[in-house]
This record gives sequence, C-alpha cells and structure tokens, in this order.
Amino acid sequence: MTSDHQPTRRLRSQDWFDNPDHADMTALYLERFMNYGTTPEELRSGKPIIGIAQSGSDLNPCNRHHLDLAKRVRDGIRDAGGIPIEFPSHPLFENCKRPTAALDRNLAYMGLVELLYGYPFDGVVLTTGCDKTTPSALMAAATVDIPAIVLSGGPMLDGWHDGELVGSGTVIWRSRRKYAAGEITREEFLDAALDSAPSVGHCNTMGTASTMNAIAEALGMSLTGCAAIPAAYRQRGQMAYRTGRRAVELVLEDIRPSHILTREAFLNAIRVNSAIGGSTNAQPHIMAMAKHAGADLRPEDWQAHGYDIPLLANVQPAGAYLGERFHRAGGVPAIMWELLQAGKLDGSVPTVTGATMAENLEGREASDREVIKPYADPMMERAGFFVLKGNLFDFAIMKTSVISADFRARYLSEPGREGIFEGKAFVFDGSEDYHARINDPALEIDERSILVIRGAGPLGWPGSAEVVNMQPPDRLLKRGITSLPTIGDGRQSGTADSPSILNASPESAAGGGLAWIRTGDVIRLDLNSGTCDMLVDETEIARRKMDSIPPVPPSRTPWQRIYRETVTQLEDGATIRGAEDFQRISTTPPRH
Ligand code: FES
Ligand code: MG
Repeated sequence: MTSDHQPTRRLRSQDWFDNPDHADMTALYLERFMNYGTTPEELRSGKPIIGIAQSGSDLNPCNRHHLDLAKRVRDGIRDAGGIPIEFPSHPLFENCKRPTAALDRNLAYMGLVELLYGYPFDGVVLTTGCDKTTPSALMAAATVDIPAIVLSGGPMLDGWHDGELVGSGTVIWRSRRKYAAGEITREEFLDAALDSAPSVGHCNTMGTASTMNAIAEALGMSLTGCAAIPAAYRQRGQMAYRTGRRAVELVLEDIRPSHILTREAFLNAIRVNSAIGGSTNAQPHIMAMAKHAGADLRPEDWQAHGYDIPLLANVQPAGAYLGERFHRAGGVPAIMWELLQAGKLDGSVPTVTGATMAENLEGREASDREVIKPYADPMMERAGFFVLKGNLFDFAIMKTSVISADFRARYLSEPGREGIFEGKAFVFDGSEDYHARINDPALEIDERSILVIRGAGPLGWPGSAEVVNMQPPDRLLKRGITSLPTIGDGRQSGTADSPSILNASPESAAGGGLAWIRTGDVIRLDLNSGTCDMLVDETEIARRKMDSIPPVPPSRTPWQRIYRETVTQLEDGATIRGAEDFQRISTTPPRH
C-alpha cells in the first residue's frame, strides 16, 4: 500500500469507471451514480469500491440493526480511503418464512453471487445475523472470491422472565412442554417468549445465528471478537467502523476468501462448534461453505475432528447462560484460546485481520469461568456431533452436548449394553401428520418408543424443515417424560435442547432408508459402532421397495421447483448441484 492509500495495482472497479478503451461505456456506468450526489472524481479516483451487502430490513428483524450499523461501516470505509456502495441482499428471516427459510439460502447465495460478480465491487462487507444470512453470504463470497469480511449484527440482550433467563427459541421449546403438560397458560407462554427478545439483535442463545457468526469468526472471516458483541452494545458500532476500515485494507493487500477458507480453517470451525455447543444446522452450512470455497471437507470430518472436543460454553441450549454473559466472559476468542492451548486448533491459518489466528488470540483468556470453562474442566467431555449410518440412512448426526443425564440414564445406560437402545418406531409423514396424530391414544407411544419423521428433507418439504425435535405425547409430558429418541430427515432449530438424530441423508423423498420403515418396526441405535438400523430383514425391505416413496407436497412456487431440481442432500450441504464448479470467478465480466 502507498502512503496515500492508493492501490498499487489496477482494481476491478476501474474496468467499469476508468476504462480509456471504452469511453462510451464508462460514461454510461458513471452517470447514474451521480444522481445521488456522488462525483465522477470519486468513482474515477482508483479508490477501492466496497460493497455493503445489507441484510437488514423490516422483513429481517434479527438483522435490522445493520441499517444503523452501516453508517459506521461507511465511516470506516471512507476513513480508510474507500468508497462505500450499499445494496440489499435477499432477506432471510428464520422464524417467519414459509415453508422454511432454508429454501431461500441458496436463492440468497445465487443473488449475492450475481451482485458481487456483475457490479463494480473491489471488496465487500457481509452483514450477517439471522441463521442463514451468514452461510449464504460466505458461500457467495467464496464463489466470487473478492476480498470480503463479515460484520455480524450481534445477539439481543439477555432475556429475563420471572427472575429467570429466557433465551430465544429455547424458551419456546421449554414452554411448549409446560403448556402441553398444563403447567402454564397461553398468555404465560406468550409473555415468556416476548421477554426473551428485549432488544435489537439476533437470537441470544447459541442457536444457529450465534453459532454461524461464531463460525464466521472461527474461520477467520471477521475481526477478532466480532461475533459475540451484543447488538445494543457500543462496541458493536465500533466493530462496524473497524470492519469498514479493514475491508479497504483487504483490497489493498489483496487478501481474498480463497486465502482464508481452507480445509484447516473449516476443521477449526468444526472444533469451535463442538466447544460452543453449536447448532446442528452448522453441519450443512459448513459443508456448503466448504464446497463453494473448494475446500476438501467430508461428512466424516465431524466425527473425526469434532466429536472429541469438550463443551466449554455454558450457554443455552446446552448450558445455562445467554449472549451477553458469553460476550463478557470473552466470547469466541476465549473459546478458541482454550482450544489453541490444548493443541486442538490450527493457529497458523491466515485471517482477515492480516495476522494468523494464533496472533489474533494472544491474551484472550476467558474472564468468567462460570460461563467459559477451561479445556481441562469442561461442561461435558466429547460434546461434538456423533455421525451415524445404517440401513435407515448413509449419514445423520446427533448433537451429544444436549443429551441430558435423564435421557442418557433412560436410553443409553442399560448395564452391559451402554450406548445401545432398541425401541419401537412410530412413523410420521411430515409435521402435519405428526401434529394430527401424536396425541391419538390409539397410537400406543410409550417411554420405550422412537419417533420418526420423514418427508422433511430438502426435497421433501421442500427446503428441509426444523421438525425433528418432536415432543412426546401430552400424556407422557404430564408424567415428566420430556423427550423421546427422535429420528428424521429434517433438521431442528439450533435453539432446541433435543438430542435428535437428524439431517438424515439420503432423505425419504430421495428413496433413502427412511422411506421403507413402518410403524411397529424396531430400530436399534448403537453409539459404540455409530450405527442406526431398522431390524427388518433384507427381503422384507426389498419387498417394501416395490411400493412407492411416501408422497410429498407439490412445488408451489417456481423457485420451489428449481430448488428441488438442483438441491443436494443435507450431508452435502444442500447446495445447488454443480454450483461448486464455479470457483473464484472474480475476473471482470465482459461488457455489453
Ligand atoms: Fe433470526 Fe433467530 S430467528 S436469529
Ligand atoms: Mg433456527
């Protein structure tokens, strides 16, 4: 970099704004930016043009705070000698989009790829927060491979209700059990939910939003300490300013996602996910990001590199606290510092700070041991995702950090058969079928039953539904049985506290094993061998395969059909098939 912050090489944006060979087109490209007061001198100055991919809007309340934060991002970009251009990205609001926001992650990805590729950006600030806003943005940045940096919006402040911490989502799952058991009224249910959302920001539990932003930081794609700062804290605005500044420097230093998003970085992210008790949605999202980055990541890496990592963060749903306390305890850097000291992190990886991860983590030891445990004295040993396979699926995961002592005692601790459970399957075809029949007394579900849901994967729903954390029948809840073993080809919310076996691939709608199970079959789960099978003989399974696959609802929008025609399974990240063929496409597009 030169002293006046001028780049030493020709920038991508100059092919639009300062191209002597194409005076006519340059005039055309330049003129309309003038109508909001930009000057030709600015755009022709050779200063880096930095996009701000704005994910906040009234439709995405979790990210809406970015509309304010963007002002500080702009200040940072200007102060570092760049020019900001803010633009909207496709909204992704987890709680409200039907049939599911998962349907739109690939749409947002494709939209952002077209914007970053087709417009005159030299770098981009990715504003993230609500669950899929983070992976979709990083997937796009990986494909286009222009300098990029993540600015998360931060979690809401801690929620309190009746003197107890109430966390996003987790309060819903816990209250719905109390409601079904007749312990609270509808109004009390609503009050607890509203109290869990006390300020601007995304979910304050370690749900998918906090998880994916922690992972962006663990990958080295945001400034150190970014993920955990609550949205309402003054540090959040300061982080926005620093992130804007750094975006310009990334362009000048030509640091690109392809330098950072390596296999080693993704393995670090998997380890961090275990230590924070992160969302099961991290599995498809990390796989999708790795595919678009061209990093060699395999489904079994979750078991090989993530399972043995202990749970260090005492944050809901696996623990007790929420985002504010986690931030004050040291946040993601303090978790990573523990892993680094224990030799469980590759500290040599480069990051957007320009320094290595180990350099970023210098002196970042936790300040509150109630919330961030030492590696040697964790909340739980071996707290990562357990990878399972068998005749029901080739791949599924189980989040071990939320297996309660009660659940373990009930299902996984039979003397001489530890880790093994056999139970009768009750099969539901999608969530409507589940809701219609779960309390039917004719269905003799008891505490030895396994609940199975299918038709909930990327093809089946479509988009894949967060439904596998099925609640037991009300009559069992009233007896204090709060969870049964559950299996499904859908997902579950990152805020759920259920040790479901989920993300099963291939899904029923793709002809996976779940398509052929029947209510009454016995399922055998064996955590020692990592297998999960229906105990049905081969000839009977072959006979059932003569039947057709359980039906799924028709596509109701053009995108639903295109999505179904192109999507891969959750094991592979539910990406757009073939999209990973397009790698590092940042070269300048042809002019028209
Ligand atoms: Fe948007 Fe949780 S619903 S962050
Ligand atoms: Mg969610």
